[in-house]
Amino acid sequence: MSRLDLVAAAYLVAAVLFVLGLKSLGRPRTAPRGNLLGASGMLVAVLATLLDRSIVDFRILLAGLVVGSAIGMVLAVKVRMTAMPQLVALFNGFGGGASVLVATASLVEVGDQGLVDDQFAVAAALTALIGAVTLTGSMVAFTKLQEIGSLRSFPGLAVLRATMAIVAVVASVMVVTRPGDQGWMWALVAAGALLGVFGTIAIGGADMPVVIALLNSCSGVAASTAGFVLDNSLLIIAGSLVGASGLVLTQIMCRSMNRSLFDVVFGSLAASGVAPDASDVYGDRVTSTSAEEVAMLLEVAERVAIVPGYGLAVAQAQHAVRDLMRTLNDSGVEVVFGIHPVAGRMPGHMNVLLAEAEIDYERLLDMDQINPTFAQTDVTIVIGANDVVNPSARTDPDSPIAGMPILDVDESRTVVVVKRSLSPGFAGIPNPLFAADGTLMLFGDGKDAVLDVVAALLNG
Ligand code: TAP
Repeated sequence: MSRLDLVAAAYLVAAVLFVLGLKSLGRPRTAPRGNLLGASGMLVAVLATLLDRSIVDFRILLAGLVVGSAIGMVLAVKVRMTAMPQLVALFNGFGGGASVLVATASLVEVGDQGLVDDQFAVAAALTALIGAVTLTGSMVAFTKLQEIGSLRSFPGLAVLRATMAIVAVVASVMVVTRPGDQGWMWALVAAGALLGVFGTIAIGGADMPVVIALLNSCSGVAASTAGFVLDNSLLIIAGSLVGASGLVLTQIMCRSMNRSLFDVVFGSLAASGVAPDASDVYGDRVTSTSAEEVAMLLEVAERVAIVPGYGLAVAQAQHAVRDLMRTLNDSGVEVVFGIHPVAGRMPGHMNVLLAEAEIDYERLLDMDQINPTFAQTDVTIVIGANDVVNPSARTDPDSPIAGMPILDVDESRTVVVVKRSLSPGFAGIPNPLFAADGTLMLFGDGKDAVLDVVAALLNG
């Protein structure tokens, strides 16, 4: 078997591992195996690429591997889970940036040799454009999520977007028709970079996760077209998988937030609704409670639902919640968890947290499963969730989150909301649930409050 055959066979194995890994990632129970399969596929791919010295000197690849792995390990250990979306944005940006480097370096090299054909030129132009948009768009997303600076929309933005889009199309055509002229290539990269900034600068609030998923898809498409530039089949396959799965995730998130992709990219959340005044919503109708009172309610309950949200992640209350579940189970109370698809700050955020505390996947019910059961639930405990349980989405057509599917916790006999204050969630709007008749507010840090309830149950 020649070296090239060996590399091709290894690429095939890696591609199969990627596909199997993706399939396994679709279900929580098989997700860890999916992760392992995908990582193994990447290892096979990297080793095969090291063997295929025709791409680039293997010592450079090895150096990149060592530096990249070291940075990745430090980030994986240091970054808090609540900051994961920012990290994903950065990764997407780096992916786009790498594709730009591949496209420009290849275009310069192959152009100097006068060997550019149409397929190569089209692939290089697409890679440079999509990669540049992904790079700067992701950096804007990162600064917004990290709350660095205050980038926002400004008058004339739409005109600038349209102008940059036209410049990018013209530059792309010129790169394809006159590949020897490097000036057009740099013009294309600059136009793409500005398009990425102007395209994301106006997007904010609850739409940002969707944008991150979309940019993730773009980074995959850029990697895939870079595969055509380098004539590397595995890069084409891996990029296509990332592009397609990112697009599917984008669609799922759009549906979960009741936003169209067009609205996300071209609209603004603030412009699409009016938030009522908090004092009008709450008045003096908010009832606060204590851990002892909640324990008394739970002692006579038969079915309890727990709804986690972003605040559970901030408070790191997952282990306390597990203790609460076990204490209730010991006294014969049925406990389930209601998981909203965009609870927290990243897809699957709540599932990962609860899995960390060894809470069975069988207890985690998604929105469609749990919503019909709230009416038969004695007590629902909402811990650090806000927007995903806000009934305005259902009842107020003018609300910025109107139409967003929510967990119908207000149908339970009693709702206990654990949070530190009446301050709003990510969408920045008041929540009438907090002032509803069947709702009791247990003010405090998520972890401390839940541990207090557990202590009250054990002492009671
Ligand atoms: P949010 O609506 O953001 O509300 C979180 C609540 O947690 C806040 O009201 C806050 O109230 C409370 N909180 C913060 N720290 C706490 C602590 N230590 N202890 C107890 N409570 C604490 O959360 P959600 O209901 O999970 O909704 C998610 C929102 O984020 C949605 O708007 C969604 O569109 C958006 N989003 C989702 C994603 C994904 S993919 N999941 C990504 C980005 C954005 P206090 O300050 O009063 O405690």
